[in-house]
Amino acid sequence: MSTLLDPIGTLVEYLRFPSISTQQEHAPQVRACAEWLESLFKKIGLNAIAYPTEGHPIVVAKTIPDPKKKTLLIYGHYDVQPPEPLEEWKSPPFQPHIDTKEERIYARGSSDNKAPTLAHILGVAKILQKKGNLPVNVIFLIEGEEEIGSPHLDHFLQEHQAELASDVIVISDTGMAPGNLPAITYALRGIAAMEFIVRGPAHDLHSGLFGGAVANPLTVAARLIASLHDENGHILIPGFYDDLQPQEAWESEASKALEQVSQADQYIKELAGVEELFGETGFSTCERIGARPSVEVNGFGGGYQGTGTKTILPKEAFVKLSFRLVANQNPKIILEQAANYLRNQLPPGVSLDIIFGHYGEACLMNPNSSYGKAAQEALKESFGTEPFLLRDGASIPIVAQFKKIFGVDILLIGLANPDCGMHSPNENMLLKNFFNGIKLNQILLERLAQ
Ligand code: BES
Ligand code: MN
Repeated sequence: MSTLLDPIGTLVEYLRFPSISTQQEHAPQVRACAEWLESLFKKIGLNAIAYPTEGHPIVVAKTIPDPKKKTLLIYGHYDVQPPEPLEEWKSPPFQPHIDTKEERIYARGSSDNKAPTLAHILGVAKILQKKGNLPVNVIFLIEGEEEIGSPHLDHFLQEHQAELASDVIVISDTGMAPGNLPAITYALRGIAAMEFIVRGPAHDLHSGLFGGAVANPLTVAARLIASLHDENGHILIPGFYDDLQPQEAWESEASKALEQVSQADQYIKELAGVEELFGETGFSTCERIGARPSVEVNGFGGGYQGTGTKTILPKEAFVKLSFRLVANQNPKIILEQAANYLRNQLPPGVSLDIIFGHYGEACLMNPNSSYGKAAQEALKESFGTEPFLLRDGASIPIVAQFKKIFGVDILLIGLANPDCGMHSPNENMLLKNFFNGIKLNQILLERLAQ
């Protein structure tokens, strides 16, 4: 039995859960969201379980498997980023707001990743409603810890490997190409996060009595940050680029074509709200984002942050940074290289504590496999134009694990509009993309079955 669901009404319900995985006080709402998903799957006629983990639950839902059919695993996440800064939202982040003129729905998690996940679910529901069964066996795997690096998913995959076995994996946790053009993402960057603390004097000092005679941790931290790049945006950590593989010829062609059609530079400038772009010399913007590794300072602080002046020499400074890596770079090795590089430059009078954060490998896939071709056709049929082949700059670390554990094709068909503001205030999803996604998913199942 399958119920026909109202897409917008269901999306609004889903978006009302503040399923913020990183904030412990929201754990009950994260669980409530998982339970809501479990009952949604049951409503459309699937067998569903919200598995508890040591962190947030993992929801698995399946059709009754038919051994004659291929099996498709659909992965997504129901957790969201924290909504802060709240004062920058035009409508409250967990009270979904539909702007009828813009034809967008505003809410935290709308594009990353609730509406795209729901588009898959509703696509499946529609086929079940019309035909009573699906052309392929479907397994949904929707986790609640993607935004914190999926700490319990790897173990879960190992334990449930047989239950999750599939012929192909589909994920819609990526984005459309610049210009909101349909695309298949065939590469994601990896990630490696670290934090360091520069410690100097035993406590904050009078900057008149000690300034000039004692090393200042903030100055040292600034120098360490500055040492990461040269003036051409090239990263200076020894060995950093050693394992990179060159792009293939078709890739540069594809990215040039996309840049032309979408006016990517102009588009990205507008999205970022900057007058000029800056990056590694010798590469285009799309290459800098998708095909080259980068390092960004995510936070830097210490010393006096209040109003007015306070003449101190602070006792410590902290820096948070994260690398985005490309295929074949090993995140652990990169973190070690970076740590050695920083330690080797340390002047006398300060010490350095380095803490490694979460990391995940990059991945590179073949978008022209037979499943890849099927997905390209489904995209063309539902969006009306030929899809672009895209390297995305962001990360979904579990994708590399999927590849290792299951060894099957992974198709990344993102639905998020590039101006969706994911992780930012006023995150939104174009309703058109959501509805096209529901259509896409119905066609995709047919194509993958062939
Ligand atoms: N949905 C994004 C990843 C994404 C977005 C890929 C757009 C391609 C295009 C995902 O939810 C995300 O934000 N990932 C984090 C991973 C991190 C928290 C381990 C990221 O990239 O920062
Ligand atoms: Mn995200």
